[in-house]
Amino acid sequence: MSNPRVLFVSSEAHPLVKTGGLADVAGALPVALKALRCDVRIMIPAYKSALARIQSVMQDVKEIAVLDIEQADAPVRLLETRLPGSSVRVWLVDSPAHFDRDGGPYGPTGGGDWPDNAQRFALFSRVAVAVAQGEAGLDWQPTVVHCNDWQSGLVPALLSRRTPRPATVFTIHNLSYQGLFSWETFQSLALPQDLWSMHGMEYFGNFSFIKGGLVYSDMLSTVSPQYAKEITTPQFGYGLEELLRHRGDRLVGILNGADYRQWNPTRDAYIPYPYNTYNFADKQRNKTALQARMGLAQNASVPLLGMIGRLVEQKGFDLLLDALPELLRTHDLQLAVLGSGDPALEERLRAAARAHPGRVAAQFGYSEELAHQIEAGADIFVMPSRFEPCGLNQIYSLRYGTVPVVHRTGGLVNTVVDATPEALRAGVATGFVFNEPSPAALASALTRALASYASPRMWKLLTFQGMQQDFSWRRSAQQYLSLYRQAIQTCA
Ligand code: ADP
Ligand code: GLC
Repeated sequence: MSNPRVLFVSSEAHPLVKTGGLADVAGALPVALKALRCDVRIMIPAYKSALARIQSVMQDVKEIAVLDIEQADAPVRLLETRLPGSSVRVWLVDSPAHFDRDGGPYGPTGGGDWPDNAQRFALFSRVAVAVAQGEAGLDWQPTVVHCNDWQSGLVPALLSRRTPRPATVFTIHNLSYQGLFSWETFQSLALPQDLWSMHGMEYFGNFSFIKGGLVYSDMLSTVSPQYAKEITTPQFGYGLEELLRHRGDRLVGILNGADYRQWNPTRDAYIPYPYNTYNFADKQRNKTALQARMGLAQNASVPLLGMIGRLVEQKGFDLLLDALPELLRTHDLQLAVLGSGDPALEERLRAAARAHPGRVAAQFGYSEELAHQIEAGADIFVMPSRFEPCGLNQIYSLRYGTVPVVHRTGGLVNTVVDATPEALRAGVATGFVFNEPSPAALASALTRALASYASPRMWKLLTFQGMQQDFSWRRSAQQYLSLYRQAIQTCA
């Protein structure tokens, strides 16, 4: 069978627009698919910030189509550019009324959602459907439409009503974001009425965009084998576990990869002192630079903990904050945090930094540069997520010789091997894993990590073992290719 032609529909793609890991995936998986000779095009909304970004890197943009889309007051332009640093085409859905505004992709800079998100992503999905069906006047049509998260959930739902049509694949990056809207909003979208059904996209009295993907796509995937199991249980399934169990023969877990073009300490443009296992001592120089940048005491021997992420309940910043006073009392350690999100968590982190000057530092907002510098400068990476579909920072940490301490959940299970005596003997240990999402369990794992840090021989073993792990995208891209083939067979 010839390789599929894939329309990869996403609401983010690094380096054009990013709030989290979905952008990393959308900026790397299509490149890996292209390297496997798959013809893939990325579709994202033409956010103001994305267009500005394209301009700033002097990438060409051209109009390739103008579409009349249901419910849009003006014609929608389709723009084409290339993903910076690659030859993959990116198609931007340009509807100024929906996407030309200051702020983030889902809401204003200060937090919250845009009030018209349902309209914005319904329009985006309708454009994807038009392109998929060859109604955009392009000389290209996909054989597979690969949708990601709730923002493109309507695509499989709308396509399921068309024949012929391309096959559809839907990837769940995070089941906790479902795109839920009221009945009134559903009415205002002028969608087929029968989508409002418990067997369709209705969800406990609301309209659920994500259900469009879960119910109607030919194949479903999520971003780690462990999370694929977890979402079929009540604890992680948000009431969708029955549906996911029912679709179990169509659901697979494919682990995310790491884009080692971006995340590689040997040639990372953001870090002052590139290093690898041969000159690992240079990691120390990055640590000193990070300490200076963040206002931490300049001390090479004190273990430095790092944490990066969206400030949301999922990530467990509160667990670390709860464990911190006692850890700081009993251990010589430092902490550097980078986060953005919940103002209350931000305030707690600020208070911790004020209470422990020189030992705890936090920076807020989004900084790609600082994220890389923390990966390079920290000794230990903390990831106490309550749930984690895949998680990328622990994978990056492994490559940077920054030993991850993680909760036993989701993709963290599939990527970090706990340093038990057996694993150490077998030479497979790469980090520290704890079982309960509680401050006490986190503290006890961190205590184990700190004890290992005190033994240079042990630490070298762990860091080097981690740095040798290979989570490159190639293998996952091959798995997506076979998923696409399955979807095509299912849909035929
Ligand atoms: P999620 O997608 O749930 O946010 P992941 O671990 O999959 O979690 O991916 C998070 C990505 O976003 C990583 O590349 C991480 O470095 C980045 N990131 C998160 N918060 C920030 C921030 N405040 N500044 C810069 N990068 C961030
Ligand atoms: C989500 C998940 C994260 C995953 C990322 C990319 O945002 O929270 O675990 O790594 O998507 O798939």
